[in-house]
Amino acid sequence: MKNQFLLTNVIPLAIAGLMAGCVIEKATGPVTLKDAYKNYFLIGVAVNQRQINDQDQRGDPIIKAQFNSISPENALKWDAVHPRPDGYDFTEADRYVEFGEKNQMTIVGHTLVWHSQTPSWLFQDQDGKTVARDVLLARMRDHIHTVVGRYKGRIKIWDVVNEALNQNGTLRQSPWEKIIGPDYLEKAFQYAHEADPDAILRYNDYSLEDEPKRSAAIALMKKLLAEGVPITAIGLQEHVHMKWPSAEREDETISAFAKLGLKVMITEMDVNVLGGLRTAEISEMARQGGSNIYTNGLPPAVDRELAKRYADLFGVFIKHHDDIPLVTLWGVTDEDSWLNTRAQNYPLLFDRAGKPKPAYFAVIKTGNHP
Ligand code: GLA
Repeated sequence: MKNQFLLTNVIPLAIAGLMAGCVIEKATGPVTLKDAYKNYFLIGVAVNQRQINDQDQRGDPIIKAQFNSISPENALKWDAVHPRPDGYDFTEADRYVEFGEKNQMTIVGHTLVWHSQTPSWLFQDQDGKTVARDVLLARMRDHIHTVVGRYKGRIKIWDVVNEALNQNGTLRQSPWEKIIGPDYLEKAFQYAHEADPDAILRYNDYSLEDEPKRSAAIALMKKLLAEGVPITAIGLQEHVHMKWPSAEREDETISAFAKLGLKVMITEMDVNVLGGLRTAEISEMARQGGSNIYTNGLPPAVDRELAKRYADLFGVFIKHHDDIPLVTLWGVTDEDSWLNTRAQNYPLLFDRAGKPKPAYFAVIKTGNHP
């Protein structure tokens, strides 16, 4: 499968790029992402339902050839595994974990406690009234124990709490915070640790490079660690733009979290080439989107700029490889990306036909010659 992928995609494109005088760099050394980075960190990818079920003829060979870790785009979110108060549905989640095991990949669990993609019953009683703190805590505990317990020893890394902070650094007034209070974070980590004491437990959020959110996240992590909360890693989602954040700021941010003794993971990387809003807030993205300026493909100059952007950021990740065990991309091809919601975007390493882009070759080259 791997050789077939290389023969049909990578090698012809590299040759075509060279013949056309493009800036596509010929890869020297290993030509898969996971091999090029084997001395630094795992390379993960978010997989969707078709891919988990081996139904994506374009994406699946890429996943198997290039990546050694997976995250589930949706299969483990609350609304997918626990749609009814009295019922779990593990159909997709089981397939996801089997897919990872079959392909010898490090399997990530995403995500246990989040304000989005939760069913409405979760925060209400039978009469539609908001539940009390102890009821919600019991539901949270049951969910975490059931889901984490089911995959104990198989899912090695869990996003326990996702996106608890606002951009201004205050705690998000999510139903979790409003009903339970700020200690919902402590409880979530405690329950996850009880369910699988060996799992790596992450706090995951976006735009942690920005002040004042960064300082607030550092303070929050310090507080949790001082209280003995079993948190072992921070996830920088890395939904970045062409110019934001700068490589220097990324570098400082990784250092700041690593200094706390946490592992730092890049959890949802993509590069929005359309600019605009600096947020991973799904509701905001859907509302504002970005201007649809590249409907006929990405101009070669922008494609080269994207390649440089990826190379710069991967250079920073390599610099911190002692603290970074995993870098995950949020999707396989440009077609798969959530960033296409309102406008055609080009945020990933493989184009809509599944061909590696200049950004792919730039990342490979950085891995081989940092
Ligand atoms: C957030 C979530 C992800 C995903 C992206 C957008 O970053 O953590 O699960 O939903 O938004 O797709």
